[in-house]
Amino acid sequence: MIVDFQNCSIFILLCFFTFLCYSVFFFFKKTNDLGPSPPSLPIIGHLHHFLSGLPHKAFQKISTKYGPLLHLHIFSFPIVLVSSPTMAHEIFTTHDLNISSRNTPAIDESLLFGPSGFTVAPYGDYVKFIKKLLATKLLRPLAIEKSRGVRAEELKQFYLKLQDKALKKESIEIGKETMKFTNNMICRMSIGRSFSEENGEVETLRELIIKSFALSKQILFVNVLRRPLEMLGLMSLFKKYIMDVSRGFDELLERVLAEHEEKREEDQDMDMMDLLLEACRDENAEYKITRNQIKSLFVEIFLGGTDTSAHTTQWTMAELVNNPNILGRLRDEIDLVVGKERLIQETDLPNLPYLQAVVKEGLRLHPPAPLLVRMFDKKCVIKDFFKVPEKTTLVVNVYGVMRDPDSWEDPNEFKPERFLTSKQEEDKVLKYLPFAAGRRGCPATNVGYIFVGISIGMMVQCFDWSIKEKVSMEEVYAGMSLSMAHPPKCTPVSRLSL
Ligand code: HEM
Repeated sequence: MIVDFQNCSIFILLCFFTFLCYSVFFFFKKTNDLGPSPPSLPIIGHLHHFLSGLPHKAFQKISTKYGPLLHLHIFSFPIVLVSSPTMAHEIFTTHDLNISSRNTPAIDESLLFGPSGFTVAPYGDYVKFIKKLLATKLLRPLAIEKSRGVRAEELKQFYLKLQDKALKKESIEIGKETMKFTNNMICRMSIGRSFSEENGEVETLRELIIKSFALSKQILFVNVLRRPLEMLGLMSLFKKYIMDVSRGFDELLERVLAEHEEKREEDQDMDMMDLLLEACRDENAEYKITRNQIKSLFVEIFLGGTDTSAHTTQWTMAELVNNPNILGRLRDEIDLVVGKERLIQETDLPNLPYLQAVVKEGLRLHPPAPLLVRMFDKKCVIKDFFKVPEKTTLVVNVYGVMRDPDSWEDPNEFKPERFLTSKQEEDKVLKYLPFAAGRRGCPATNVGYIFVGISIGMMVQCFDWSIKEKVSMEEVYAGMSLSMAHPPKCTPVSRLSL
């Protein structure tokens, strides 16, 4: 089935290429009067830069040669590329409202990036309503404190699982194990329970998440090429795959929604799903949310929250394994502050500055979202000279910004101590943005730091990591995040018994 689908993608690409050549000849607009732009080729524009290698590296190469604010075009699609801390600051302050929509065309009826989705919703009443709900209910300090017990239980389970692997001398893939751990925490925090092992729910959810990640590239492809695909009558092929996954999520979430509706009378302790259902029933609610919007939001939280934290943990652990001196310093700090008699807890994190620095440095070098893709809603002028037409795509190369040699000393080296000196940031610079910034930046920064901090803290406190060779840091796009091309298999060796 997958092979058929890929062949079909190639066929569609060829059709689309023909269509584009046609449209470019007839509709291509000259862009000379816009901002600076590197030399381009006829028809394909700057496409040739992206034909080999990873897109964030290709963008980085272009900006290093031609500048931090550029105008590119691929066929007739214009792109504004931002690649420096100063330009990132300008974009996320002066132009933030104008770039607060992603405007990804939706796949009709699907819960996965469909029209009810939150992340694809334009910046307006719905986005403001959800942001407020997240900030005041799920993610505010009091709510985080309330759900602390849940994360402590899951951390203990994660520890016991690794301890079991250590006893059996079995190897694990850190990313996969962390994925299960973060997924359980997110489910328990947002819907009040994790999915059950017994009735196969956990397996179903995991399969759906894996299928969604596998589909993410196709979804992007469909979103970008939606109109020509529709014109060629080929949308139905893609829809089928996407809708199969969407239906799986729908069944799972309908079951959870029904449970929440039944328990609402007797239970006073409201989780996020309860709050959303209440808003759905309330005639006078600030925003009349629909049932599909609720389900889509949970799909996005399951996918976005799980993948990002798991990949960050995997990359950071790989850096630690490759840098035994840094691993040793981190372990000394944990042993001193937490000791060897009890498991690290998230309340220890504020007392572990080196651990915090390690997590930040992992995110700086390996941001799960290396490219932020937004859209300029209206036409505007950046820094008084750079003209941007309305509906132009914006790409902020977060990867390039966080490895900018003018802002970071030894930008490609893993050096957590750079975050220990609390140097006052100069004005008008945005050089650290793994969670993006502005109105559509990540609303769960605090939770992200906790998830990654406790996973790494526990793995360093309780285990040695035996691995034969240096871990390869080659990158690949898998799922929705920047992933390791060769995720290492490590065998945990127990150093504490708690
Ligand atoms: C290390 C962990 C994480 C990282 C690095 C991260 C990063 C990001 C980034 C870069 C964006 C913005 C993308 C853009 O501007 O286009 C984003 C958005 C978002 N993140 Fe996170 N995230 C993390 C964890 C989480 C978790 C745990 C949750 C949920 C509990 C979450 C929920 C969201 C949501 C709902 C959005 C969409 C916000 C909007 O559209 O307004 N993230 N995240």
